[in-house]
Amino acid sequence: MSRTVYVNGNYLPEEEATVSIFDRGFLFADGVYEVTSILDGKLVDFAGHAARLERSLTELDMQSPVSMEALLDIHRELVARNGIEQGMVYMQITRGSDGDRDFVFPDPETTKPSLVLFTQAKELVDTEAAQKGNRIISVEDIRWGRRDIKTVQLLYPSMAKMMARKAGADDAWLVQDGFVTEGTSNNAYIVKDGKIITRNLSSDILHGITRTAVLKFAREAQMKIEERPFTIDEAKAADEAFTTSASAFVMPVVSVDGATLGDGAPGPVARRLREIYIAEMRKAAI
Ligand code: PDD
Repeated sequence: MSRTVYVNGNYLPEEEATVSIFDRGFLFADGVYEVTSILDGKLVDFAGHAARLERSLTELDMQSPVSMEALLDIHRELVARNGIEQGMVYMQITRGSDGDRDFVFPDPETTKPSLVLFTQAKELVDTEAAQKGNRIISVEDIRWGRRDIKTVQLLYPSMAKMMARKAGADDAWLVQDGFVTEGTSNNAYIVKDGKIITRNLSSDILHGITRTAVLKFAREAQMKIEERPFTIDEAKAADEAFTTSASAFVMPVVSVDGATLGDGAPGPVARRLREIYIAEMRKAAI
């Protein structure tokens, strides 16, 4: 069945939705995005995503074409029109099109940003992946230096995911100067002797909205947390590991570069945090 999507002020059947071939998102990956999950037909942590979106836009000298309140209404309208109970809303803002190709940014007074949103229905809670856990390989992190900005330049993460699939694994962790930065589309964590270790925030990683919430819940549950870079050797020797993202919540990791963690099943910390996260977000979703 055809989805209803949103493009620059209009709700349209997906087949009728178009953007210009000169759109800078298409030509230069000159755009930012957010993925917000939907539980029980409601948005999870919209305020967190809106705050990060505003930061991404500011860092790139871009403006949102609509207010954050209007953006919330569009998200809700799309979820309702498509009858989504579980899944995601994808939202993208690009610098728009001035009808040509030029490295110089167009004048924002005359070239308006493009705003595109669509829904993706997906089971997020009862997934086989969460029951089995993910197998991870490590690959070099060769992305640009501003990973704290959520841009649509996702070619290398996509290639890294394919390297993982070709190696018979589920996903990849990216390694820079010997330390794990993050996963292809998630933040990375290991657990050793009851302590959760995850890379500290900087421009080396995306500041995950799920990360913020999960670390808060972990603290509230009296879990110990160390925010620092860790190596793949530490990950291979960890008791357990997991990733966080809006599209997979807390996802257990059961092996790293072929080394099985613990007994090879999702670990207790990851399982507990997943449960807490889903329960709390169900309560707070709007
Ligand atoms: N990815 N790190 C990277 C590189 C990501 O792409 C993502 C999210 C995260 C986790 O951020 P959050 O918890 O806010 O979802 C970390 C989204 C889900 C995606 O590209 O589909």
